[in-house]
Amino acid sequence: MRVLVTGGAGFIGSNFVRHVHRERPDWEIVVYDLLTYAGDARSVEGLERVELIQADICNEASIDAAVAATDAVVHFAAESHNDNSLHSPWPFVSTNLIGTYQVLEAVRRHGRRLHHISTDEVYGDLELDDPQKFTPQTAYNPSSPYSSTKAGSDLLVRAWVRSFGVQATISNCSNNYGPYQHVEKFIPRQITELLDGRRPKLYGTGENVRDWIHAEDHSSGVLAILERGQIGETYLIGADGERNNREVVALILRLMGHEPDAFDHVNDRPGHDLRYAIDASRLREELGWRPSYRDFEQGLAATISWYREHEAWWRPQKRETEARYRVLGR
Ligand code: NAD
Ligand code: TYD
Repeated sequence: MRVLVTGGAGFIGSNFVRHVHRERPDWEIVVYDLLTYAGDARSVEGLERVELIQADICNEASIDAAVAATDAVVHFAAESHNDNSLHSPWPFVSTNLIGTYQVLEAVRRHGRRLHHISTDEVYGDLELDDPQKFTPQTAYNPSSPYSSTKAGSDLLVRAWVRSFGVQATISNCSNNYGPYQHVEKFIPRQITELLDGRRPKLYGTGENVRDWIHAEDHSSGVLAILERGQIGETYLIGADGERNNREVVALILRLMGHEPDAFDHVNDRPGHDLRYAIDASRLREELGWRPSYRDFEQGLAATISWYREHEAWWRPQKRETEARYRVLGR
């Protein structure tokens, strides 16, 4: 098996590459990644049987050649940060929509298996007291340029399955945390702010709820779907990890030896989704998947240790990221 992993030098893609490298020792892995500001070749370096192609998924000739030379494609490549999409939407339209179109056309031409990675944010948000979590039947209702372009990419995949018989599955996962996540994202931003002697920054009131899952558990879910999922189906991936942002900041502060209220409130994000929550029963019941990180506090403590021990990895991203946030008043 030779698998092409688009976006494999990003946060979740690189966690997936390491997961597959460990769990499927006879597979060859080809990482196809443009190495944008969010990608880092160091996240997958030193692994045998892993090859890196630096190229754009929007480039028809490059993605075509790479798809032709592999058996299956797992498509992680995307612009992934909501705040960036509100400031500058075009790269999201280009990579998430046009790029996914090029991936679909390449797998159609060569008859390859595709697994498309998406997000629970395509469903919009829930009220804090809504008893119903997101399911594969929930109507799409995205809020931001990020989530709307991811929603559009999912719809393209569904159309290519139905109209052209492309052999594809889709997964929509909740918020990930773990090693190798860019410091622009919530959890690594707060950890590295504290390591740099500054205070965590909470958007608005901090009552927004996210459903946290470790990137390792997202990876095992994707591998299960790639190998055993039903073609044409959508699987939701989540580990029942709902917490509001205030609780997460207080936990990070406590684990790093600070008072739990030693954070600052900053400007809220426009259109900020209130709550995401995943019902992952299909993945659990149909494919027997179970998360291995069941204790968020333990997973968070391990992630804090990783950032403490890998300053050389995140330091080059930090100054530019905070300069971008200063412009946004966040
Ligand atoms: P990331 O921003 O860390 O990584 C994205 C990777 O894609 C980077 O390595 C980047 O260089 C690459 N890339 C971007 N544009 C490209 C292009 N045009 N051609 C080739 N490569 C390109 O993102 P992430 O957080 O790892 O997310 C990966 C996927 O998972 C995305 O599809 C995202 O929508 C989805 N997802 C993320 C989360 C989350 O919590 N981060 C949750 C659910 C789903
Ligand atoms: P983020 O990691 O950007 O993921 P998403 O927008 O995809 O959920 O943000 C997670 C939550 O944390 C979201 O409610 C916004 C909030 N947030 C903060 O409160 N402070 C921050 O510095 C950042 C980056 C995010």
